[in-house]
Amino acid sequence: MEADFQFGDVEELFRSAPTLKDEFVIRENLEKFIHRNCELGRRLVCITSGGTSAPLERNCVRFLHNFSSGNRGAVSTEYFLQAGYAVIFLYKRNSSQPYCRRIVECFKPDHSSSVQDRIELMECAVQSYHESVVQGKLLEVSYETIFQYLQLLRLIARNMNCLEKNAMFYLAAAVADFYVPWEAMDEHKIQSREGPLTIQLALVPKMIKVLRKQWAPSAFCVSFKLETDSTILMKKAKEALHKYNVHAVVANELTTRNEKVIVVTNEGEKTIEKDLDVEMPLVQFLKERHREFIECK
Ligand code: PMT
Repeated sequence: MEADFQFGDVEELFRSAPTLKDEFVIRENLEKFIHRNCELGRRLVCITSGGTSAPLERNCVRFLHNFSSGNRGAVSTEYFLQAGYAVIFLYKRNSSQPYCRRIVECFKPDHSSSVQDRIELMECAVQSYHESVVQGKLLEVSYETIFQYLQLLRLIARNMNCLEKNAMFYLAAAVADFYVPWEAMDEHKIQSREGPLTIQLALVPKMIKVLRKQWAPSAFCVSFKLETDSTILMKKAKEALHKYNVHAVVANELTTRNEKVIVVTNEGEKTIEKDLDVEMPLVQFLKERHREFIECK
């Protein structure tokens, strides 16, 4: 049985979380970006990407980390930009960023192209990235901890609420389910000489519920479901669709996540298999569902 939570738990988490550094600057950049894209009538998607870390100490040396390379979010960002969306890319520092995979590929020892061709490929990637940023279509916001991720998601979602149906959330980040509340945390590095460590972890409330109900209720919302046990994946994805009242759930298994995903909507299930990659057909499919959602009165 999955534990449920009260909205009071959410308030408590935000109340006790450490203050967001540079909040004023981030807020100002966000407001400008959203306002401008809203005026231009662009659709806007917030893509969350990468793992989150839950610190064990305030001056953090150790933390619990959720696995995610950030590849799904970074590559999807490229395709959403190509599809005409403006993108807010909320990503874990040091995880994959849009267009970087093309540069990394150029450094592989088995690359068949000449050095000159590789330089051109890299230039092209940097150019695409640069254009998206200077044309005001891509805004990147980074986080490190679960506290920062949740505060930034709330800030972005509340601001995007004004876009109503033109807004989309694509929640591909691997979000911690457990954390040590800030008030219960040691100030300094936990000392091993004190013997074996027992930690009481609290549950992170499912923020997707709050996002749908309070922060941005008119937006199109895509959640992800990651499992390692294939026998429970589809059951959990279908449950999530109704439980969190989202428009689509992208179900994926850890080991095959780059080959295949299954999108669950109220209309049924759609299996999406790798073409060049999985993200291209996935973004195409979701763009169409979003268009139908906007056109439906
Ligand atoms: O980054 P890659 O290496 O390319 O891998 C991509 C991926 C496997 C990480 C991605 O495709 C994926 O599945 N991301 C979601 C992973 C995850 O957190 O799954 P979950 O089953 O624990 O959570 C389901 C949903 O609830 C997620 O959309 C999450 O944003 C949301 N959630 C989770 C915890 C929490 N406290 N609040 C939430 O809202």
